Amino acid sequence: MRSVSKENITKAFMGYCGEETDPRLHFVLEKLVTHLHDFAREVELTHEEWRKGLELLLKAGDISTPERNEFVLMSDVLGLSSLVDMINSAEEGTPSSVLGPFHILGAPDLPVGGDLKQDNESPTVIVGGTVKDSQGIPISGAEFEIWQTAENGLYSNQDTAQPDYNLRAHMKVGSDGKYLFSTIRPAPYTVPDDGPVGELLHATGREPWRPSHLHFIVTAPGHRTLVTEVFPSDDPYLNQDAVFGVRDALVMQYQEKTDPAEIPPGLAIGNDVTVPYYMVDFDFVLAPE
Ligand code: BEZ
Ligand code: FE
Repeated sequence: MRSVSKENITKAFMGYCGEETDPRLHFVLEKLVTHLHDFAREVELTHEEWRKGLELLLKAGDISTPERNEFVLMSDVLGLSSLVDMINSAEEGTPSSVLGPFHILGAPDLPVGGDLKQDNESPTVIVGGTVKDSQGIPISGAEFEIWQTAENGLYSNQDTAQPDYNLRAHMKVGSDGKYLFSTIRPAPYTVPDDGPVGELLHATGREPWRPSHLHFIVTAPGHRTLVTEVFPSDDPYLNQDAVFGVRDALVMQYQEKTDPAEIPPGLAIGNDVTVPYYMVDFDFVLAPE
């Protein structure tokens, strides 16, 4: 096209795409460029603002390493990661939530009733419940992975002072669908805010905090894999999660207990616990495949 204008540039772009373009790529690109061009027209983007945007991307590239992907973080704090997650999650069952960058493969097995707390300081939390299908029937053959922060708000792979795989486990859930383990209360933490994403957060008066949470990946034959996280109802950052991961159905009660006699049977720690301790009852509902 020779006479490109503000009005027809989007059409011109699509006209340049060849017949052989994959149909899905064609559709996604068309929508992307349409919204991008509409955005620039709507806000009357200045050269200065456009340059700043590109500088932000350049800085994100500069600070990114195999361990730190600033582009993923940008997607997280813009709500895009959570939106993609919600678009693709099952309609029924426990809602999914963001995976985050701190999951690692190979966590050790923990039997039902096992102790994840080990030598970690912090009050004991006993977490238990049932993995069910959408009819409420316990699923046999479910497994999950759990990972969480230590008392200092860091995951084991962020903190050389923690033993490898600290506060991480893989569990084969009982044939009755029940799971149970003891751990510590995870701590809230901030997403990295010393880079361009941090600049964006600070410039808009936003907090870099994530409310404390336990991450889970729950799998079972014949069911959709659930990647999710659960949050305590009294966390101060529940209403301003920097990455938009909180859903009502993922908020649980930490019930404070002062009597060790209330500890459920089948826990490796027995009733050897300092008080107060906390109990969490959370069922996972998996959607069919
Ligand atoms: C996390 O929950 O581990 C996480 C998610 C998104 C960004 C940073 C951390
Ligand atoms: Fe996390």
